[in-house]
Amino acid sequence: MVVALLRCSWLLERFCFLCRTGTACCLKCCPAPSNVLVWVAAALRYSGSEKDESSRWKIFFFFAPWKHVVMWELIDEVEVEMPTSLGCPPPCAPLFLMLMTFLLQVKHATNQIVMNCADIDIITASYAPEGDEEVHATGFNYQNEDEKVTLSFPSTLQKGTGTLKIDFVGELNDKMKGFYRSKYTTPTGDTRYAAVTQFEATDARRAFPCWDEPAIKATFDISLVVPKDRVALSNMNVIDRKPYPDDENLVEVKFARTPIMSTYLVAFVVGEYDFVETRSLDGVLVRVYTPVGKAEQGKFALEVAAKTLPFYKDYFNVPYPLPKIDLIAIADFAAGAMENWGLVTYRETALLIDPKNSCSSSRQWVALVVGHELAHQWFGNLVTMEWWTHLWLNEGFASWIEYLCVDHCFPEYDIWTQFVSADYTRAQELDALDNSHPIEVSVGHPSEVDEIFDAISYSKGASVIRMLHDYIGDEDFRKGMNLYLTKFLQKNAATEDLWESLEKASGKPIAAVMNTWTKQMGFPLIYVEAEQVKDDKVLKLVQKKFCASGPYAGEDFPMWMVPISICTSDDPTSAKMQVLMDKPELTLVLKDVKPDQWVKLNLGTVGFYRTQYSPDMLESLIPAIKDLSLPPVDRLGLQNDLFSLARAGIISTVEVLKVMEAFVNEPNYTVWSDLSCNLEILSTLLSHTDFYEEIQVFVKDVFSPIGERLGWDPKPGEGHLDALLRGLVLGKLGKAGHKATLEEARRRFKDHVEGKNILSADLRSPVYVTILKHGDSTTLDTMLKLHKQADMQEEKNRIERVLGAISQPELIQKVLTFALSEEVRPQDTVSVIGGVAGGSKQGRKAAWKFVRDNWEELYNRYQGGFLISRLIKVCVALRMALEISFYWF
Ligand code: BES
Ligand code: ZN
Repeated sequence: MVVALLRCSWLLERFCFLCRTGTACCLKCCPAPSNVLVWVAAALRYSGSEKDESSRWKIFFFFAPWKHVVMWELIDEVEVEMPTSLGCPPPCAPLFLMLMTFLLQVKHATNQIVMNCADIDIITASYAPEGDEEVHATGFNYQNEDEKVTLSFPSTLQKGTGTLKIDFVGELNDKMKGFYRSKYTTPTGDTRYAAVTQFEATDARRAFPCWDEPAIKATFDISLVVPKDRVALSNMNVIDRKPYPDDENLVEVKFARTPIMSTYLVAFVVGEYDFVETRSLDGVLVRVYTPVGKAEQGKFALEVAAKTLPFYKDYFNVPYPLPKIDLIAIADFAAGAMENWGLVTYRETALLIDPKNSCSSSRQWVALVVGHELAHQWFGNLVTMEWWTHLWLNEGFASWIEYLCVDHCFPEYDIWTQFVSADYTRAQELDALDNSHPIEVSVGHPSEVDEIFDAISYSKGASVIRMLHDYIGDEDFRKGMNLYLTKFLQKNAATEDLWESLEKASGKPIAAVMNTWTKQMGFPLIYVEAEQVKDDKVLKLVQKKFCASGPYAGEDFPMWMVPISICTSDDPTSAKMQVLMDKPELTLVLKDVKPDQWVKLNLGTVGFYRTQYSPDMLESLIPAIKDLSLPPVDRLGLQNDLFSLARAGIISTVEVLKVMEAFVNEPNYTVWSDLSCNLEILSTLLSHTDFYEEIQVFVKDVFSPIGERLGWDPKPGEGHLDALLRGLVLGKLGKAGHKATLEEARRRFKDHVEGKNILSADLRSPVYVTILKHGDSTTLDTMLKLHKQADMQEEKNRIERVLGAISQPELIQKVLTFALSEEVRPQDTVSVIGGVAGGSKQGRKAAWKFVRDNWEELYNRYQGGFLISRLIKVCVALRMALEISFYWF
């Protein structure tokens, strides 16, 4: 391909435009002018930074070819290999150049303007007071650490409105943050790039200098000048699309003005996509954008989104304020999904469902993620947190209500029971560590914000909101939510503001109760014993902080205000008594509870605490597990408490394993799933002892009966949860080396590879993990081949996650090397390494060593973002946590 070598005379003195060497500019990396996308800026208007004032920012982004940048002069033309259509591979990073105009209000006379700005080079800046002459800034002082720039002016800018113009250069980076490029392959096998934004938490400043804080809201008018064959999307609907005057290959796409909003929710995407669309019952145009040729795979998410929007409208009693919402699958994407207002971005695996090749758990995940991000359109976008300290409220709330929404759309998923094993128990596990942190944390520097996107903000946040919802009751909770949303519509709010609205709606002491859960870390263990006094049972409750490391021995006595519910065998599904425990000890009298009746605390496993029963109370509950009279979510909670108490050394593990016998008749997927996690933890601990083989035998004994009952093939009338249960049980048996399961897995895998009988999507993970666990280098090679051939990201991820099951040291190394190869998308490296760490004893050590040996590359890849924290979390076993001091997960 012939490319232009250009010289830029007026930038020459400052830096080379691309390689920044300070010498002449070489634009080797840019192909012929007509198909290069150069990101040329435009105008951004801003007026008034006070949040109560109506303010307006205007942005035009021009995706223009070089020939429009008049200062470039052609000096040569050369032939180069040019594999990409947007920018080029390193070392010459693709840049974007912007010209901006801000309309702003100077509140106090000054000769300096301070803005957020990162990885951006400002070329010129000037300020023109309204009706007066322009003054050029004479200095740009970058405070790189603080991600700020100070523009200095030779004279004082007087109070009043004026126009600030800035032109600058930024980098269209590969770090999945700010304004970045995402690599994809076309149906014909070409590698191309889309240009995408990811601004939360603090990366809008990488795309344009701005006041990048959630409380500084503005409206945005966005225009994109793009090649006419590309899809251009932004937060709002298109209001004009016309040929770009200077180039027939370009079009200018103008979007409607956004509502007043925070910078972290601004988004634009340019690339090649197909879409499916519908209109939701409340009249919103919903589109799901997919890779070209895969529109079918957007249908499931489209259906969920179309059901979800009216559900939230009804729940909050506030309409969705934009005329459209787009959901788009982005190939390279760091988070799971991002709630940009009106343009929600997703990893491919969080949005695309192939009716033939997607498994049941993927469907469920897509439904949850769609439910989560759409909830943010109200809770987060319409009413935004005042500062990142309140991030937990944003994420905790969305992580709770996503379940409410999925329960509405798919009641057959029994999703609330799954909440307990996915979020509640996970949060308790982490929050019991000495180095947990309170839900509400003060944050300053941007790097501190990334750190709080963790399980405490999400899962503990969601769990305490679930407890609060239960304490208030749905009706008053909804009333309070509506009060909150309407009071702070298009504004910002803090945690206390929500408590105030809920307090108003319910008449209950919400702030007093909730502060004990959000402002201090940890949660209580409630010890309970019962005494029979005639026909009554007298309960004595004592609360103490629960610690994973053993009985609490601290000097202070943290206390929680705990909504307690109690049921008896008379009616295991409704509370006989509800009380707010607001002191360390409490004595309660349960009237008319006969000696043969059992008593259980924490009905529905809703309260965020663990319960330790006296031996005789526990004994009386065992038959209720066995005969299933205790509801699934209570069986799950009871079992989980017992395992945790044993791990903390408070009760004996042998006792817990004996209780396991009561689960012989267990039919429920989620109960099995939690049990299986606990046995896995035990098995990991025992892998360092002589009892490893024995625990494998125990696992086989526990899972064999249910495995036999289920068999390999679905039976008529089975549903979603049966499919999940079968996958879980067969995987568990296969990994533990259950002979019949292993043989059948090998047989089915062979047929699959030979194309004789393709494995159903739900059976793939259990089969893959089984054959790898007991496989050799040929098995691994076959899996890597399947990975290469897979067209769907879901299948690639499925394989990536199980590769770590292989246990030979040299094969483990091969998997780790593969994790950093081009074959694995950058965001998925973490799960490959995590799979190795969790796959075997040898893998655990090797993964941690690998991370330390490759720290620079990994850190550079994620730029210290939240994926780094997730990486540490997935690969650090508890004993290795001592090596690092920031082990929060
Ligand atoms: N707001 C977040 C996206 C995000 C996460 C931005 C981390 C910056 C850093 C989004 O709403 C979210 O929570 N996404 C989740 C998925 C969700 C279903 C739990 C995620 O990305 O893990
Ligand atoms: Zn979220």
